[in-house]
Amino acid sequence: MRVFTAVLLLLPCAFSLNLLMYVNVIGKSHLQFAEKLIALLNDHGHNVDVIMGMLNSYVSLKGSYGARNLVVVQFPGESPWGAVAHHLNNPFDEQSDWNRLKIESNKFLDTTEMLCDLLLVSFDVEQLLSTNRYDLALITGYDFCPFALAHYHKISPVVSYVPTPAAYAQTYYAGLPELPLYENIVFDERHDGRSTFSSRIFETLRTFKDRYYHFQNALAINNKVCARFGDDFPDVRDIAMNVSIDFTNSHPLLEEPRPISHRIRYIGGVGLPMPKPLSKELDQLLDISKKGNVIFSFGTQIGPDKISDELQHIFIDTFKRFPEFNFIWKFDGVKQMNATNIFNLDWLPQTDMLYDSRVVAFITHMGLNSFTETAFAGVPVVMIPFFADQVHNARRASAIGIGEIVRKSEITEDNLHHALEKVLVDERYRLRARELSAMISALPDTPQRVFLEGIEFAAKFKHLSSHYRLVGANHNFLVQIGWDVAAFLTVSLLISIYFATTLTIFVLKTLSTGVYVKRKTD
Ligand SMILES: *[C@@H]1O[C@H](CO)[C@@H](O)[C@H](O)[C@H]1NC(C)=O
Ligand SMILES: *[C@@H]1O[C@H](CO)[C@@H](O)[C@H](O)[C@H]1NC(C)=O
Repeated sequence: MRVFTAVLLLLPCAFSLNLLMYVNVIGKSHLQFAEKLIALLNDHGHNVDVIMGMLNSYVSLKGSYGARNLVVVQFPGESPWGAVAHHLNNPFDEQSDWNRLKIESNKFLDTTEMLCDLLLVSFDVEQLLSTNRYDLALITGYDFCPFALAHYHKISPVVSYVPTPAAYAQTYYAGLPELPLYENIVFDERHDGRSTFSSRIFETLRTFKDRYYHFQNALAINNKVCARFGDDFPDVRDIAMNVSIDFTNSHPLLEEPRPISHRIRYIGGVGLPMPKPLSKELDQLLDISKKGNVIFSFGTQIGPDKISDELQHIFIDTFKRFPEFNFIWKFDGVKQMNATNIFNLDWLPQTDMLYDSRVVAFITHMGLNSFTETAFAGVPVVMIPFFADQVHNARRASAIGIGEIVRKSEITEDNLHHALEKVLVDERYRLRARELSAMISALPDTPQRVFLEGIEFAAKFKHLSSHYRLVGANHNFLVQIGWDVAAFLTVSLLISIYFATTLTIFVLKTLSTGVYVKRKTD
């Protein structure tokens, strides 16, 4: 019996696939995520050739990342998106919601268009794709250009992935309607829920704005690929609609519950590192506090120089009010904190510490990795989200009941104290976090399995996309949401009311005239 099971487990890896992977390097975490996927594929005997599109010129590359062949396409100098991502001058400033509706230049999409120019003329890319045969292409689902390239080189099927929660190119082109009740744009940075009428109006307008951007972007990419591959080249949006599977880095127990399609597969946690034992120094440090330790890290993007002295003092003064707990802060260790319960280190092994039972809470910016790690480890959080999907993640953790949000524009001693007190003293947060962690471990499907089996299945059955493609993919978003019907019914109703009113007035007038004429003749 055991032998039989072992054979069954081996079956999926009995064949080796030749895979092409396109990695859009938007930030360092995107590269790390891709590296994990490549390692996973390699471990199962598959070959991966990789094209890296360096959207962010500030990410430096080293090594081959497990690729059999690696081709890097990069800007000669600084990329516009790199400049935006690199110079986070005032990370604590918060834009008003209505400001987010303004149509302005979209640096991200602009940069994807510029990178497309480089990608389409790259000799190395051309060489790689014309001399190798691939069983499947695995492409980051943020921009159209690499999908067009795969189509031109007849690489089929195509599967997309993102290291973030699902992006529009995955959901919208899978044919999913963008309903205003849900957080359609996870990079939106809005704190409001979507249940009130005004917030749904906002969500609808925000979706219009996004559709406008992506429409412009698709036209621009279409022009480029037609210029390169000929005028009869299909619309890039049609190519995007024929994707077999879209992998997203969301976890089914953590992501907002929402209508999805079979095409979307949640692999959240696929790239998380395994916890390792702590160093002796850290182990001793965690032992000092009897009640427990709180770790505090804003990740790699918000360095100590971005946190003003005033803010530093707010944190320090608040931490001092919890003398029974020790606070271990990832913050340039040279600085004197002048408090017996605050320890500042240059670097902390976040994963290893989260899995230590002496760590009782985590103060975090809620990057997706931190969210997933803390949920897997079962540690409650005080969250100060900054940008991208961080607000979305924080709202999820708060809805699940494992943490409290302090808005970055509202960091005061009172607010911070209130949130910390809840998470450290109210047992419910800790219990919920532990339950969540237990649920995640008990799920029958691991993200690794969902990913590998999805890739192998899609590579084997070329027509998978036609099984998963929603009819919504054939229609624009107004039709998807039913706006065309609503508009028709509204206009019909108005016309009916108009005719009914006109008719009534006419009849009344005729009658009264009739009566009048009759009286006159009497
Ligand atoms: C998408 O798939 C459909 C059905 O499988 C096919 O008819 C169509 O040509 C494909 N479109 C593109 C652009 O590949
Ligand atoms: C700690 O005390 C030293 C000496 O009084 C002072 O220079 C430093 O600014 C203090 N640090 C903080 C974070 O308050």
